Amino acid sequence: MFVLLKSSFFLLVSLGLFACSENKTETTNKTTKNPPLQQSPSQQPRSESVEQNVEAMLDKLSLEEKVSLVHASGKFHINAIERVGIPEMWLSDGPHGVRHQINRHDWASAGWTDDHSTYLPHLTSVAASWDPEMAILHGEVLGAEARDRKKDFILGPGVNLARLPLYGRNFEYMGEDPILAAKLVVPQIKAIQKNDVAATIKHYALNTQELNRTGVNAKPDERTLREVYLPAFEAAVKDANVLGMMGSYNEYYGTNANQSKHLVMDILKGEWGYQGVLLTDWNVDINTHDAAMYGLDLEMGTDVATYDDYFLAQPLLKEIQAGNIPVSVLDDKVRRILRVQYAIGMYDNNRLPGKRNTEEHQLAARKIAAEGIVLLKNNVVGVKNVLPLEQKSIKNILVLGPNANKKHGTGGGSSEVKSLYEITPLAGLKEQLGEEVNIQVMRARSSVLAPIASDYVASRHWTGTPAWNISYYKDQARKELLSESWIVDSKFKSLNSDNTDHITMKATIKPLKSGVHKLNVSAVGDFTLKIDGDEVVSFTSEDSTLLSHDIDLKAEQDYAFEITYDGNTTFTLGWDAPGNLFSDEAEYLAAAKAADAVIYFGGLSHGDDRESIDRPDMKLPNSQDEIISKLLNVNEKTIVFLVAGSAVEMPWADQANAIVWGWYGGMEAGHAFSDVLFGEVNPSGKMPITLPEKLTDTAPIALNDYNETESLYSEGVFIGYRWFEQQQIKPTFAFGHGLSYTNFEVSDIKLSNVSISSGDKLTVTAQVKNTGAVAGAEVVQLYLHDKVASVDRPTKELKGFDKVFLQPGESKSVSIELTERDLSFWDINTNDWLAESGEFEVQLATSSDNIKLRKSFNYTN
Ligand code: BGC
Repeated sequence: MFVLLKSSFFLLVSLGLFACSENKTETTNKTTKNPPLQQSPSQQPRSESVEQNVEAMLDKLSLEEKVSLVHASGKFHINAIERVGIPEMWLSDGPHGVRHQINRHDWASAGWTDDHSTYLPHLTSVAASWDPEMAILHGEVLGAEARDRKKDFILGPGVNLARLPLYGRNFEYMGEDPILAAKLVVPQIKAIQKNDVAATIKHYALNTQELNRTGVNAKPDERTLREVYLPAFEAAVKDANVLGMMGSYNEYYGTNANQSKHLVMDILKGEWGYQGVLLTDWNVDINTHDAAMYGLDLEMGTDVATYDDYFLAQPLLKEIQAGNIPVSVLDDKVRRILRVQYAIGMYDNNRLPGKRNTEEHQLAARKIAAEGIVLLKNNVVGVKNVLPLEQKSIKNILVLGPNANKKHGTGGGSSEVKSLYEITPLAGLKEQLGEEVNIQVMRARSSVLAPIASDYVASRHWTGTPAWNISYYKDQARKELLSESWIVDSKFKSLNSDNTDHITMKATIKPLKSGVHKLNVSAVGDFTLKIDGDEVVSFTSEDSTLLSHDIDLKAEQDYAFEITYDGNTTFTLGWDAPGNLFSDEAEYLAAAKAADAVIYFGGLSHGDDRESIDRPDMKLPNSQDEIISKLLNVNEKTIVFLVAGSAVEMPWADQANAIVWGWYGGMEAGHAFSDVLFGEVNPSGKMPITLPEKLTDTAPIALNDYNETESLYSEGVFIGYRWFEQQQIKPTFAFGHGLSYTNFEVSDIKLSNVSISSGDKLTVTAQVKNTGAVAGAEVVQLYLHDKVASVDRPTKELKGFDKVFLQPGESKSVSIELTERDLSFWDINTNDWLAESGEFEVQLATSSDNIKLRKSFNYTN
């Protein structure tokens, strides 16, 4: 058993493996390209010459040319001005890999064959590593690959906080804590930008739900805004000099966030002194005057007929010509675009060319995925802990669960990645175990009504997820369409029991095997199923009686399934497909009893965690809870391995003896999962989110602050674990929790001073010893408690952390520095940070609910 040592990451970075050249790639496919790289006008280092160059270029531009630079000229392009040698800029999603090439003027794929990229573990996994070196590695790969794809802005990382477990985009971000996100995003941005590409932190600000994401009005109080929702953006600006920032879709106090004077002019560009570009998300609700005057620099993706119709195109020119908007306002925006161009070397002949799909990048993906895996529970059963598995004692292993063989790269929305390959958990296990071990794979189902599996669904939602499209009509005649939506599974539950729903649900189904398929339907109401226009099943029922119908279908052929339902309850369409697709209870339980090891790869997929839609509840979909409980009843050593990007309820958690959380682990996920399951990597991840027992325990739901109109952020600064502590609610697993295959002792807390004054720093140190038999890593987390404060403050707030890698028996010291800002809250009376005199308690912990050492100091203002 060994752990991946920090030194190997350093080695990769210091050997320059992430920043050297190999400029093959896609220029052949492009219709327009960046103009040839030119010699920098000056031989000075870039940072010194940037401002001079910007001014010189600005002087050469006409008013119309300037306007052409502040709005899109393609889906992901900004105009070139050949007359003066300004190159076209290329942008691309996204946070965990460079997205495939999209058509210049529409959303379809450009059909390139050489636009694959390394699919990196999601940022949740970086956050779970609590390791800045993983953030650097992630950034190095993303930056180098973006450059190799000739991109100038890479649209990531994202740092909106996981306030609500249902939020569809939690999987793209860095967890629930502002300081954890801030401390990891800074090295990540620096690493991206070191590759001569602009990072674009998103979405500024307060994008914490997808429910009515373009209309919801975010109304946090000022203190909550400053202490919780802004610190990661602030750190990105002040400490990482981020060059791009994307505004969010939502409103902030009644105006779109992109044109909020307070968010943009007062805070971002005022107080923080941001010098980069603020660009819109794709198609936001803005207006020319406010957007121009309140700081928006670049408009992207607006859904209008021509690029001239963009708010910051002809309408802006007209406003300037009419004297309603000063030219200086436009100049400031153009300066920022040019500043990015010069800063990333677009005019230089020494701009780094990047590299892509290298073995080093794939290795990096594996390391990040492995370091983010969180061992939630690992009890002793018999004489030893369930994990790690001992390969030599396994002859027969049972693998179940919807994520066993699922790939996740091409789902989720704009963050999809077309990767060269993706190792599924099952593929990883097969490679690990080789030919001699019998790996039995089963699709367990709880009843014959398990909905048609999503790998049979060929129709797609725009986020890439297999989807059934639903149309809601006013009445049974289906002439007046009320709304449209989509779901992943062939089942429907009415949300409104008082009124009858009149829906039509359609999907393209592509069978995997030819033969007789037994369709099983249960519905309360009027139900009809047509396949390719022919009525196959039609009935009216007042209870959920099961009806079956056999039909011969051919493999690999598309069938148009159309369901019409008039009712106010529910229906499910399940099937038995040929080839023993499913295993029923008796079969999978017998196999689980007999196996040497049972692994259930459950969790979510991008049918649940996806852009534009929140999850309807916090439960594992499709009877997973029921199946897991049954497996645990027959085999107490069943390992529950969850792949998900946001919290799920785990009603079986007490019963389980081994639970692992693996995130969406990128193209090397399966290898990384096996590394941990078999002890080749000792897990060291810690949860960057709280795992609540139930949805109603979470603040937005408990406080009834989740709807499509407005978000009041009623819990204030008590986000995540701070709320659970305040309300004394025990979650299933706490923020910061994560076990190891070894044990650690944290001792000898020391503060550099017992008393400090305004402007001083305080250093907290402690010793960490690996007291177990194998190498491993521990994350020491520093929480601070302001003992007497004039405002309501959390009993603990994360302020820093240090991860140490230790051989058996080895001790090392951890060191975390506190500044005055760490002691402060946002004072609404002075509109500034305030550290109040008095006693502060330092809590050193290995999770938010496991404080190991405490020590107090005094602060004098
Ligand atoms: C997303 C952004 C993304 C953009 C471009 C939007 O739907 O919210 O995060 O960068 O699309 O694809």
